[in-house]
Amino acid sequence: MAFFDNFSKKVQDVAFVAAEKAQQVAAVAGEKANAVADKAKIEYEMAAERRSMDKNYRALGEWYVSTLEGDAPEAVADIVAAIKDSQENLAAYEAAKAEAAAEAAALKAKGIEPCLAVILVGENPASQVYVRGKVKDCGECGIKSLELRMPETTTQEELLAKIAELAADKTVNGILVQLPLPKQIDEHAVIDAIPPEKDVDGFSPVNVGRMQTGQPCFLPCTPAGCIRMIESTGTKIDGKNAVVIGRSNIVGKPAALLLLAKNATVTVCHSHTANLKEICANADILVAAVGRAGFVTGDMVKPGAVVIDVGINRGADGKLHGDVNFEEASAVAGYITPVPGGVGPMTRAMLMKNTTQAAAMQNGVAI
Ligand code: GUN
Repeated sequence: MAFFDNFSKKVQDVAFVAAEKAQQVAAVAGEKANAVADKAKIEYEMAAERRSMDKNYRALGEWYVSTLEGDAPEAVADIVAAIKDSQENLAAYEAAKAEAAAEAAALKAKGIEPCLAVILVGENPASQVYVRGKVKDCGECGIKSLELRMPETTTQEELLAKIAELAADKTVNGILVQLPLPKQIDEHAVIDAIPPEKDVDGFSPVNVGRMQTGQPCFLPCTPAGCIRMIESTGTKIDGKNAVVIGRSNIVGKPAALLLLAKNATVTVCHSHTANLKEICANADILVAAVGRAGFVTGDMVKPGAVVIDVGINRGADGKLHGDVNFEEASAVAGYITPVPGGVGPMTRAMLMKNTTQAAAMQNGVAI
């Protein structure tokens, strides 16, 4: 009996050890399976995010194409008759802003509140005015804004930490760092830190590269606004001689690229350009972005040309002046944008639209 007792005990022991081993194996296998399942889940979620992003980039692409690659109405075959009244500029800007407001309302109807974070480092008086304008337009379009002010002495690390915080915040759709920055901060490092999907300025290398290669992206607001201004006149850009004065990363270079994408023959002029006057006088479309008050004089404007003045220069008189001598140029041009009140408000309207698009994209909805 003892044998049987012992035997059965042995069997029990063996069974117990085996059961314990089996449990251990199962636990390890379970852990492994859980890890595999978790990894698969993360991969699935990432793929879903990528798919949603692609979908929304496509939606953004349609907007890009319709806004910036669509021809002006065929009926208006050439540069239209003079529209020198600044009311026309106002109408173009109001229309763009109304679109942004309608998009914000459509998002809100889906339970999404679009939000733009604007960071201002330091006390640059012009930047303060620009930031105030952006925040005001957000309010008027139904877009939430966060105005974040940081002192002139802010370090690059502090600014990058703030950007990282906003990048991780799902309720923030757009991040804009007002330029220029104090000299201790590397502008490129800051722009690189903004995730492309929240880069509503269109300055990040990804968006710049996508624009250059004709892919859907966030377009930089001032050049996009220039194109919209030109098209608001009924002018067909295709086949026109377009001259851009200035080659900054914010305006000159991207404006030239967008005009090229619309099949203009584009010349970029800068401080080393010979025969500047002659080149400008041959322009059907002249975009002035030099940053020098009254630089473009009447004799540099082709009769009937569309003149877009991007300059905002504070004169000794304390007033704002464009890069174009308005009095002289407006006597020759077919259309000319005023300063203030022309490109500036249109730039902000484009920023509003980029913000609503960012919110739509990040939430996987089309507007
Ligand atoms: N400073 C002058 N123009 C701009 C702009 O379009 N965006 C930013 N972030 N800073 C600027």
